[in-house]
Amino acid sequence: MRAERMKSMPHATLEAKGLSKTYDAGAGPVTALTDINLSVHSGRFASVMGPSGSGKSTLLKLFGLLDTPTAGEVRLEGRATSGLNDAERTRLRAARIGFVFQSFELIPTLTVAENITLPASLEGRLKQSGERLAWLAGQLGLEGLLNRRPGTLSGGQRQRVALARALINEPALVLADEPTGNLDRAAGLNVLQLLRDGVDAWGWTVMMVTHDPNGAMMTDDVFFLQDGRLVDRVDPHTDDGRRDLARFVTGEDG
Ligand SMILES: Nc1ncnc2c1ncn2[C@@H]1O[C@H](COP(=O)(O)OP(=O)(O)O)[C@@H](O)[C@H]1O
Ligand SMILES: [Mg+2]
Repeated sequence: MRAERMKSMPHATLEAKGLSKTYDAGAGPVTALTDINLSVHSGRFASVMGPSGSGKSTLLKLFGLLDTPTAGEVRLEGRATSGLNDAERTRLRAARIGFVFQSFELIPTLTVAENITLPASLEGRLKQSGERLAWLAGQLGLEGLLNRRPGTLSGGQRQRVALARALINEPALVLADEPTGNLDRAAGLNVLQLLRDGVDAWGWTVMMVTHDPNGAMMTDDVFFLQDGRLVDRVDPHTDDGRRDLARFVTGEDG
């Protein structure tokens, strides 16, 4: 029902409007992003590619409300986020955004189930999260692992736990920064396929940073960054788009 309502709304789930970011590093300012404009609509799987240092992680952090832009703004479900104070931003992030880190960022002393439901308990929704936990565990193949600690799991299993944690509060937007970067090929493909299935079957909205052209090939929209600028946008569903991506496979980019 929510997916229906979102589709009829005029705005995108995620919008960047003239987004720029300059870091004040010790050796002087570093401009990481310059005037980024893009949008991701509900029920879409978007990806960001670009060389190391091109600003991909900075962009995802701004989208995840983990940092604030120097200029421009991030709009989430049609709402401006620039006027929010820290507490409001934290609350909005917890309620509407799920973030998946390359390095999983699981808490070693908690069980898998406790890790997954942590965002729900922070939101005071632990009691209601049981059904969602069971459903996610089923979808992500984690049923047998719920009482284990992260240290006893494989990389692929840990990333699936991180994904479940990102999804426990039914976020409007899932952000994933190189979610397959620490996985072997088979486990990486498995995580990509889960994201794809989630978008297709349950209407998740996902934006993923990836180095892997084959991963980008599985998304609906690929945004290319270079030196902090959005330099290209490719549709992998078209022959032209697939050709552009295939060029990356043969090694223009690392
Ligand atoms: N916290 C920071 N302080 C200073 N400079 C940073 C910080 N984070 C990133 N940068 C710089 O911003 C640029 C973009 O970095 P990043 O967004 O991590 O790129 P990518 O994820 O594409 O590798 C780089 O020049 C990087 O050194
Ligand atoms: Mg990065």
